[in-house]
Amino acid sequence: MPDKPVLWKTTEKNIYYRIDALEAVCDRLIEELPWPGNIQTLSFLFSDYGPDEYLSLRRNISGRYGARLVYCADKEKLIAPEGAAISTNIRIKKAGSLDEIRQLYLSTVLRVFNEEFPGELPDSRIKFSENVARNYLSSEKSLCLAQGERVSGLVTVVGIKDHLAQPVDCVNWVWLDKSLRLPERIAAQGLIVEWLKRIVAQRVNCYIDSFNFRSQRFFRRIGFVPLCLNIERKS
Ligand SMILES: CC(C)(COP(=O)(O)OP(=O)(O)OC[C@H]1O[C@@H](n2cnc3c(N)ncnc32)[C@H](O)[C@@H]1OP(=O)(O)O)[C@@H](O)C(=O)NCCC(=O)NCCS
Repeated sequence: MPDKPVLWKTTEKNIYYRIDALEAVCDRLIEELPWPGNIQTLSFLFSDYGPDEYLSLRRNISGRYGARLVYCADKEKLIAPEGAAISTNIRIKKAGSLDEIRQLYLSTVLRVFNEEFPGELPDSRIKFSENVARNYLSSEKSLCLAQGERVSGLVTVVGIKDHLAQPVDCVNWVWLDKSLRLPERIAAQGLIVEWLKRIVAQRVNCYIDSFNFRSQRFFRRIGFVPLCLNIERKS
């Protein structure tokens, strides 16, 4: 991988550069690179993601840009956290109708953004989530977790194309109820890993906002690694 960004390819929505290290991506670099106004996303593929991708992005990229990391794993590399086999009252709940899943997805997305990331949910993002709910979610690729009758977790997976234009499974939402205690949380992570290993074809990815530290840590914990950074201009 090169020290300086090297143009790899341009598609309808993305312009891709290859670069050595995530740490090298900063406002100044973004401003210097050719990035035509009609291309929505500037993408950096990197091999070295450094010791802390969250800090790297906070330090180097200002609020003028929306930044999302693409994480990736082969299903064999997914790992349940230590202690996941200890029995708790967390169980897999038989998913209800697709409409119930859609509602749970949309209500948890809205709740999390309103409570934890106010100001980070523009109308375009709400429309995007509604479109995902309507057209992409499926019962087979949705996991509901519960304690008794109380729903306490949701994971949804959708089929998309990756940067190589290859089909890939994408974890497009994961939510665990704030009230879960640590042993239940660890058990939930174990159930999620087991389930992902069962339902994904081979490679699995996810797109995580630069400000979502907990989500980045969750995916790192279960074996995903950062691969690509997507930058968008905020309007
Ligand atoms: C992302 C999410 C699912 C991760 O859940 P999680 O892996 O249980 O991690 P959390 O950070 O929420 O865990 C809460 C605490 O338990 C600890 N913890 C969780 N799993 C642990 C483990 N396996 N071992 C040790 N500690 C653990 C965390 O360190 C954290 O402690 P802290 O508050 O002192 O930092 C959860 O934070 C969530 O639902 N967030 C809102 C929805 C969201 O943003 N989804 C991502 C979009 S794709």
